[in-house]
Amino acid sequence: MKVKITDEIRYMGVDDTDIDLFESQYIVPDGVSYNSYLIMDDKTVIMDTVDARKTAEWEKKLLETLDGRKPDYLVVSHMEPDHAGSLARAIELFPDVTLVGNAKTFVFMTQFIGEAVEKLHKLVVKEGDELSLGKHVLTFYMAPMVHWPEVMVTYDKTDKVLFSADGFGKFGALELTEDKDWACEARRYYFNIVGKYGAPVQTLLKKAATLDIEKICPLHGPVLTENLGYYIGLYDTWSKYEPEDEGVLVAYASIHGNTAKAAKKIGELLKNAGVKRVVVSDLSRADMAEVIEDAFRYDRMVLCAASYDGSVFPCMQDFLNHLQAKAYQNRKVALVENGTWAPSAAKVMKGMLESMKNVTILEPVVTIRSAMKETDMDAIDALVKSVAEND
Ligand code: FEO
Repeated sequence: MKVKITDEIRYMGVDDTDIDLFESQYIVPDGVSYNSYLIMDDKTVIMDTVDARKTAEWEKKLLETLDGRKPDYLVVSHMEPDHAGSLARAIELFPDVTLVGNAKTFVFMTQFIGEAVEKLHKLVVKEGDELSLGKHVLTFYMAPMVHWPEVMVTYDKTDKVLFSADGFGKFGALELTEDKDWACEARRYYFNIVGKYGAPVQTLLKKAATLDIEKICPLHGPVLTENLGYYIGLYDTWSKYEPEDEGVLVAYASIHGNTAKAAKKIGELLKNAGVKRVVVSDLSRADMAEVIEDAFRYDRMVLCAASYDGSVFPCMQDFLNHLQAKAYQNRKVALVENGTWAPSAAKVMKGMLESMKNVTILEPVVTIRSAMKETDMDAIDALVKSVAEND
């Protein structure tokens, strides 16, 4: 895929369209891209490598573009193997290259690659350090925990380009997603991969606000060249854990379909009550990462779950575990439990939600016995009213 950045900054990334699960957990129907860049100035710099799955393709592209030149530097923004997976090959190809990273980068590099790292040329940078390439001057900013502790971003003040590491990344191979909405898969990527680290993302955004940025080059997804305020605004909302849209996610965990019927009915009633965005998701079958994305996107949730083994049906527990891990907060949640002999789901869901920051449980909590019946409708109507009015 040809991506134009500037005359001297070239795209060296590769698409991966046959990966089954990104990070062995996320479905990526449109694949993913591992982005790498090359800056051709008096000095030549490789900005990150790619996942080992695509080393050969990256190497070919890189050698063709270098056309006999030897890179002077290789900047390592992030040691996670989806980016540093071809580092060992790069070192084999260019044994004299100077690796650029921070102190932690080299600790992790040694852990991944071994003691051989000790003998390599290294430039250890810290916050605000500059590297002149001739016309271009790179400045390094530390971005710990966006997404790993060693992450750093690089700003090229000549072309006003920010190399943003995982920040502003998204799922989707470039060749398959050129015309697709950015936010959908960027949001799913953000909340599942970076979601826990809202405060570090806020710190990075504050640093970025001091820079004159015209282009953002992330390690996944498209290079962002226009309307940067839109993307930065979404990152600001997401990292503050503020809802992006008013709306309700109705997520259900149903064994035989009775809890599902109640959830779908609640979804209908919410729409009738004027809630414009209502998403109903089956936690047994939906992509968990997408349901997590929706949980963060909207300001309210209704959780409907069967009781199970004196607790809650496992896919609901799994969902709440994920939300806890991703620091879900600042939302309103209503609960529906189903139980035939000893309903226990609401107590467990409530307990898990109470451990999260600023999550309000809306009243009433509704208990259904085995199947939703006419006699349940008063309680369900009251729950719907409470959710619809608590926007
Ligand atoms: Fe794309 Fe955290 O690696």
